[in-house]
Amino acid sequence: MNIAIVGLQWGDEGKGKVVDYLAQGFDINCRFQGGPNAGHTVWRGEEKFVFHQIPSGVLNKNIIGIIGAGCVFDPAIFFEEIENLKRYKEDITERIKISKFCHLIMPYHILLDKIKEETTQGIGTTKKGIGVAYEDKYARIGIRIGDLFYPEIFEKKLRANVSRKNVILMDIYRAEPISDDEVFERFIEYGEKLKPYVIDESNFLNQAIRDNKKIIFEGAQGVLLDVDFGTYPYVTSSHTITGGAYIGLGIPPASIGRVIGVAKAYTTRVGNGPFPTEDKGEIGEQLRKAGNEYGSTTGRPRRCGPFDASIVRYAARLTGTKELFLTKLDVLQGFEKIKVAVGYTNAKEFDPFIAEELIPVYEEIPGFEEDISQMRNFDELPGEVKEYIKIIEHYTGLKVNYISVGSQPEAVIRR
Ligand code: GDP
Ligand code: IMO
Ligand code: MG
Repeated sequence: MNIAIVGLQWGDEGKGKVVDYLAQGFDINCRFQGGPNAGHTVWRGEEKFVFHQIPSGVLNKNIIGIIGAGCVFDPAIFFEEIENLKRYKEDITERIKISKFCHLIMPYHILLDKIKEETTQGIGTTKKGIGVAYEDKYARIGIRIGDLFYPEIFEKKLRANVSRKNVILMDIYRAEPISDDEVFERFIEYGEKLKPYVIDESNFLNQAIRDNKKIIFEGAQGVLLDVDFGTYPYVTSSHTITGGAYIGLGIPPASIGRVIGVAKAYTTRVGNGPFPTEDKGEIGEQLRKAGNEYGSTTGRPRRCGPFDASIVRYAARLTGTKELFLTKLDVLQGFEKIKVAVGYTNAKEFDPFIAEELIPVYEEIPGFEEDISQMRNFDELPGEVKEYIKIIEHYTGLKVNYISVGSQPEAVIRR
């Protein structure tokens, strides 16, 4: 059965690790939205891989990784990723495929993202050009990977875009204009290098589905960053919910049989925006330290706080999640008490429109001292941990089927 993996918080839930773990024995692993704003971490022994655009499951044998139409694509970052992966998996170049429909992140997108963040009241983006590239896509002026194979069409589109962007750069932001010649040369070169990777992924995947191939769909970011259902406007510019996979890959709804939601045993957020359970004091600091909570893409310190059952329940509804892959439970070792938000004093459910005002209600249980990172059976876990999981299951309405107790692939307790 095909599986979708989605993040149920504000991203960085550990989706990379989860996909790598679950992708064993799968044939295809697809990304369907987002771009190099994602940072999905996978470990192999002492070696750390941070996937930005390439699906995180490709370290597994023979699996094909697909970057779908719903993604935005930065060729420079892609080739860096490929070079890095080639050292580890020689056949990687034959196993990566990219949709010809995928929109390109152009240098002016990155420049404008940076300038906007630095000169206006930014939302704390990753400055990878994501939002500006999606703006152009929906304004119907974007440039797609497939355009690179028709230099005359590409040149026309590029020149129109650059002159438009230069007006914005100079007149609004008082910045230097950019040159289209340099960009043209560079991207024509990228086009040549990308050719062997480019496919019509809808065609490829629909055939794979008919052939009963096993497919794992990999969400980036998290539901609370979804452009429609997240904490708007403090969101990313794509559809992070399960539905994003159908749109972002051109596949029919029946193609996903199982949705596994990923949530950390506490909550983090990087960038600005509401975060009801954020702890700006000691607990937050302790979580950041114990969980090494610094952005995989930008290195920024992540904001931290207790688990919020209401946001996870909200995210589960939007994604069709019934089962939870709970990650980073080992990080809670040594906390005297563990707090979990089970609702709000001033609202029945999580509501993104009033997220700024929500006041969490906490339950508190005793913490645990034992090192759980080597445990592989549920029965071995300390009573306090079992109690914590029970509370999470009760208030989220989800079954915790997997528990991650370390960053290494084998550090998983399966129930
Ligand atoms: P993603 O964006 O959802 O893939 O998550 P990130 O890779 O950005 O952040 C998750 C971080 O936690 C990475 O550094 C992982 O190696 C690490 N990690 C994942 N699962 C666990 C776990 O169960 N325990 C610990 N201690 N670290 C974990
Ligand atoms: P993964 O896939 C955490 C956040 C940014 C910012 C907002 C918009 O690793 O979970 P963008 O650059 O997308 O326009 O920024 O979204 N953000 C993430 N936060 N994990 C991510 O990805 C993120 N991708 C974007 O911090 O608040
Ligand atoms: Mg991440």
